[in-house]
Amino acid sequence: MKTIFIGAGNVAWHLVSLFSKNKDLQITHIWSRKKENAESLKNKLNDESIKINYSIQQLDFSKTDVDLAILSIADGAFETVLSKLILPKNCILAHTSGAQPMEMLKLANQNQIKNIGVFYPLQTFSKAKEVDFSQIPFCIEANDKKIEEKLTSLAKQFSNKVFQVSSKDRSILHVAAVFACNFSNYLWTISEQILKEKNLPFDMLKPLLEETLQKALEINPSNAQTGPAIRKDEKVIEKHLHMIEEMNLSNSNPHFSQIYKLMTESIQKKKKLDLT
Ligand SMILES: NC(=O)c1ccc[n+]([C@@H]2O[C@H](COP(=O)([O-])OP(=O)(O)OC[C@H]3O[C@@H](n4cnc5c(N)ncnc54)[C@H](OP(=O)(O)O)[C@@H]3O)[C@@H](O)[C@H]2O)c1
Repeated sequence: MKTIFIGAGNVAWHLVSLFSKNKDLQITHIWSRKKENAESLKNKLNDESIKINYSIQQLDFSKTDVDLAILSIADGAFETVLSKLILPKNCILAHTSGAQPMEMLKLANQNQIKNIGVFYPLQTFSKAKEVDFSQIPFCIEANDKKIEEKLTSLAKQFSNKVFQVSSKDRSILHVAAVFACNFSNYLWTISEQILKEKNLPFDMLKPLLEETLQKALEINPSNAQTGPAIRKDEKVIEKHLHMIEEMNLSNSNPHFSQIYKLMTESIQKKKKLDLT
């Protein structure tokens, strides 16, 4: 299956490695807005035959014989890129976004695209960190049963967890994932900043981070909540807020107190609702 990658960011970085290990899949083109990003992805694969395309003017692939195009770009760029993207008539176009409806892809081929689908790996990807694809849930969707089968069997080559998921359910999974991953990670970033400010090592918190995750997985997050908020330790809460306000944590400092207050109120409100 001849494949092109449109996008050379975090997700494409990992997917191209996977694709390149499978001899039935051949990556023919990589497109990215910036030439250097498409090139660094090509260099990672060390395959001279891959062609590089960049800029919005180089999105016409109609003269190629590609079978599959994976669109893995920033969600905010979908409209701009899709309005210029031209693929051969029978090529499948699939995106990797948790938030974008599949129908969005209809903008390609000047609103004449035939085969569209979704190939969404529900995981967090950064170029600097390897991932084990065999355990990553893939959410598949397509506008045609045969295309769905093709994308499903492709995902099954990489993962043991492949699901057919509608655009609506995928967007719900995505909101939940933002809370579970992106917001948790940001809260850990605040912890990191507080400790840095006071010259204390973040390593001290690592066993706590690990136990928090293990406990949430074992007994479910709603059964695992501890801390001053759920205990209603008002004196501790007040002391923490005072300490946060006194710290010199750049411009984000006002947000830290607001986040602390909002999280505390939200935990306490949930406890109250659970008791009624
Ligand atoms: N990262 C994750 O954990 C993750 C997980 C699952 C799904 N996804 C989804 O996968 C997709 C790609 O995510 P990512 O994390 O790989 O993104 P990313 O690392 O930010 O890469 C974004 C790609 O989009 C291009 N781009 C950004 N703005 C653009 C614009 N205005 N016009 C044209 N191209 C533009 C970038 O080009 P240049 O860099 O060359 O400018 C780059 O190739 C998104 O839909 C995301 O929701 C992400």
